[in-house]
Amino acid sequence: MNQEISLVVNGTSHTVRVGDHWTLLDLLHDALDLKGTKDGCGEGVCGACTVLVNGRAVRACLTLAAYVQGAEVVTIEGLARDDELDPVQRTFLELGAVQCGYCTPGMIMMSKALLDENPNPTRDEVREALAGNLCRCSGYTKIIDAVMAVRGAD
Ligand code: FES
Ligand code: FES
Repeated sequence: MNQEISLVVNGTSHTVRVGDHWTLLDLLHDALDLKGTKDGCGEGVCGACTVLVNGRAVRACLTLAAYVQGAEVVTIEGLARDDELDPVQRTFLELGAVQCGYCTPGMIMMSKALLDENPNPTRDEVREALAGNLCRCSGYTKIIDAVMAVRGAD
């Protein structure tokens, strides 16, 4: 069995055929060839697959593709505008918050969701928002520093 799903991804409308068991992560990787969203654990633990659905951060590995029928999805590929990085992306790069980079798309999308909702978070609020995003490399300090530095950078 499969079904047709219509959605908007990074500003572009798509209609794709997906299996009933497909997740949003399968849809992005296999139907749309958008590989920037990472598959870290596949079971909702690491946050590497975080994307925005109708402006809210969700884990694409836990979200059924059928759930995003009619939704607006933003992935890491959709953040840059006219070849200019989003301030969150730029600040992660400038402050060395990226090492192996595997966790980075999820970290950036979660940070984006936080800053969209609360443009001036405290350090504790940043830490809390990113608590479900795991990084094995940077030790979190530089990641939290980057989110703190991006506040008001628009
Ligand atoms: S890949 Fe989705 S939470 Fe780890
Ligand atoms: S930069 Fe390597 S897991 Fe975060």
